[in-house]
Amino acid sequence: MSIQDAVDVAGLRAVGGIVAEIRDRLGRAVAPGVTTGELDALAQRLLRRRGARSAPRLAYEFPGATCISINDELAHGIPSPERVLREGDLVNIDVSAERDGYWADTGASFPVGRVDSVCAALLRAARAALAAALAVVRAGAPIHGVGRAVEAVARSTPFFVVENLCGHGVGRFIHEAPSVPNVFDRRTVGVFEEGLVVTIEPFLTTGATVAVDSENGWTLRTPDGSIGAQFEHTVLVTADGPLILTDSKRGT
Ligand code: CO
Ligand code: CO
Repeated sequence: MSIQDAVDVAGLRAVGGIVAEIRDRLGRAVAPGVTTGELDALAQRLLRRRGARSAPRLAYEFPGATCISINDELAHGIPSPERVLREGDLVNIDVSAERDGYWADTGASFPVGRVDSVCAALLRAARAALAAALAVVRAGAPIHGVGRAVEAVARSTPFFVVENLCGHGVGRFIHEAPSVPNVFDRRTVGVFEEGLVVTIEPFLTTGATVAVDSENGWTLRTPDGSIGAQFEHTVLVTADGPLILTDSKRGT
């Protein structure tokens, strides 16, 4: 969506704050032995308490309040009481929600206990990719600048960018135009218009450059078992840069 007035900004800030809080609360609950079903139940309680509804459930009838993806699962992992987090895993928690007609989307990858040096480096690289992408978002800037920035970070590491997972417009629904690719393609036309609300969400892996479907019909994974990480914010495009709507509260 493109914001029209202060009411829109307030509505987006409210739902953005809710998904950010839930992302951070779930992140703090990540530990070996915890199940993804337990994390999802915590998210569901927090959503209800805040008067918000799970976006994936509302928009797509996804079988979970959040998407929780482990290791070679990149996105849309289905939370389950049978999925136990193990020491050394990387887990991605993606939280998106609607409240009062406004939608926001955020995600982060977390280490489960102690992870090996490759996973630790992958997390740092994916965080750096998000920061580099956010740095090129500004009213009037080309959308393909995000792909350039993410690829530049990946090239300075041993890691790879997932080409078919993209940022997207958000605000009045979970997935809106435009698409914001994480790789540079000259066919990506258009600029970030002032007032546009979009997600920026690079996915990096230890080997794969594409996400593929899996048997459950929801989860996207690497085709080769390589490990992925993603960090995602919902932002409002301004002349001065991105206003991050899903930042952590100070002290959390
Ligand atoms: Co997301
Ligand atoms: Co998203």
